[in-house]
Amino acid sequence: MPSILKTTELPMAKDFSSFLSIEGASRKKSPFNGLLRLMGGDIVSLGSGLPHPSTFPFYSLSAEVKRIDPAIKATKPIATGAKSQAMVDLVTVPHGPQPGKVESLTDSLQYGLGSGIESLRMFCKEHVNQMHRPQYQDWDVVLSAGNTDAFAKAISMLCNRGDRVLVEEWTYPAALEMMEPLGVGHVPVKMDGEGMSAVALKDLLDNWGSTPEQASEAKPRVVYLIPTGQNPTGATMSIQRRRDIIQVAQQHNLILIEDDPYYYLQFGGDDEKSGNDTDGSESGWMPSLPSLLSLDTDARVIRLDTFSKTLAPGCRVGYMSANAQFCAIVQYHNEVSTQQPSGFSQAILAEMLISHWGQKGYIRYLCENVRTEYLKRSQHLQACYRKHVNPRLASFIKPSAGMFIWIKIHVEHHPKYGTVSDSALMLELFKKCVGNNVLMVPGWQFSCKPKPADIDPADLLNVWLDDRATYFRATFAYASFEQMDQAMVRFGESLNEVFGV
Ligand SMILES: Cc1ncc(COP(=O)(O)O)c(C=O)c1O
Repeated sequence: MPSILKTTELPMAKDFSSFLSIEGASRKKSPFNGLLRLMGGDIVSLGSGLPHPSTFPFYSLSAEVKRIDPAIKATKPIATGAKSQAMVDLVTVPHGPQPGKVESLTDSLQYGLGSGIESLRMFCKEHVNQMHRPQYQDWDVVLSAGNTDAFAKAISMLCNRGDRVLVEEWTYPAALEMMEPLGVGHVPVKMDGEGMSAVALKDLLDNWGSTPEQASEAKPRVVYLIPTGQNPTGATMSIQRRRDIIQVAQQHNLILIEDDPYYYLQFGGDDEKSGNDTDGSESGWMPSLPSLLSLDTDARVIRLDTFSKTLAPGCRVGYMSANAQFCAIVQYHNEVSTQQPSGFSQAILAEMLISHWGQKGYIRYLCENVRTEYLKRSQHLQACYRKHVNPRLASFIKPSAGMFIWIKIHVEHHPKYGTVSDSALMLELFKKCVGNNVLMVPGWQFSCKPKPADIDPADLLNVWLDDRATYFRATFAYASFEQMDQAMVRFGESLNEVFGV
């Protein structure tokens, strides 16, 4: 973890204004927003067009949530699943401001600042400070409607039509699909068991311009990467790999977009232990890997966090941490687009996180509930896999974080290998799996290879769009333990049938 200096001893952010796209550089603070900031106190406002809160039909907002006592060290795991097994707290957001309450509906359901509701934004900022200790003074946090939203805004802030972004060779498809219609392309960077290779990134940039395709193209300046429990490969960068990536970013003056939804799903050394040791009773566990943000002394990392994998995706709340200039531009973008995440979500999250759980409770919840649940699930799927799948026909690298295993199919052991394409073999296997009632995501969906315009990519039973993609992505996040076992039986049988063993 980075050294803890007093904020005033830290350097100021470097100036990255030259990285702004035409769109990013043109974004300005909304004058309307100035009015909102002047409101409050004794001012009588006849200014902004805010609807009157008496017309809001909502008297209060309540949710029963898991009770987490931040002060008590766990002797038992915080229960997952059904309400009856857990201790429950009633979180209520009242209609108007009330002593002891963080938020009210009259405020949180009103129009507000593009940076999000201030109480929740400050909770997130304090959380980032505690977990990542940014190494420069003028960093900031802006709330988003999740990482999908923040990523789209970061790209429009940094990239013009014709630019290309460096990405992991297997990556989250929504990121590529978001950029493509904007005319922002991508350049795949080789990966290994730890995610994006720093050596490959450096090599690519050291030799940029050496291929005909690159000759007329400026060197890419933005990298998109998923450092922990990477989607789809499950790979997690070691501390050294993270340092190496930062070093290449400094050498080649790059901006890094760190999309890190699985940061709290690090299994660490506990993945070596068996079932009962991982029941959450070791309550001192904390994520051990430094984020790229925490290693960044220049302010070149844009870190994206989301509550999607830690609380619930339907909250549509996340937060972007970056230098103050980048945060301000995303805020200006919010002001003229989404404005803020939903006031309902923000209000209930603020009340739960600030009044009930606190920073310690939230961290306890992440470590003892969310992480522990996925650790058990990961171990279970791996055990089922080992029981039912022939290791000569398929393999995977054990994930140390996240929600996924990336299964490599050893097509070279298929009797028809070399006489038909690898895509044909993979398609045959995929169809067999579906026929046997087990579904995994075809590896080609995470490929950087351009998809032909004349083929319907949703026609999954008839297309396999990349010969190199001899993989399936399986997730242990959702199915029941029994279903995972069933799925691996079916997958093992499908493999045996297709390979004729
Ligand atoms: C790498 C990655 N980024 C972003 C997202 C979506 O995050 P959010 O729900 O915050 O938009 C996902 C969800 O699967 C993901 O795997």
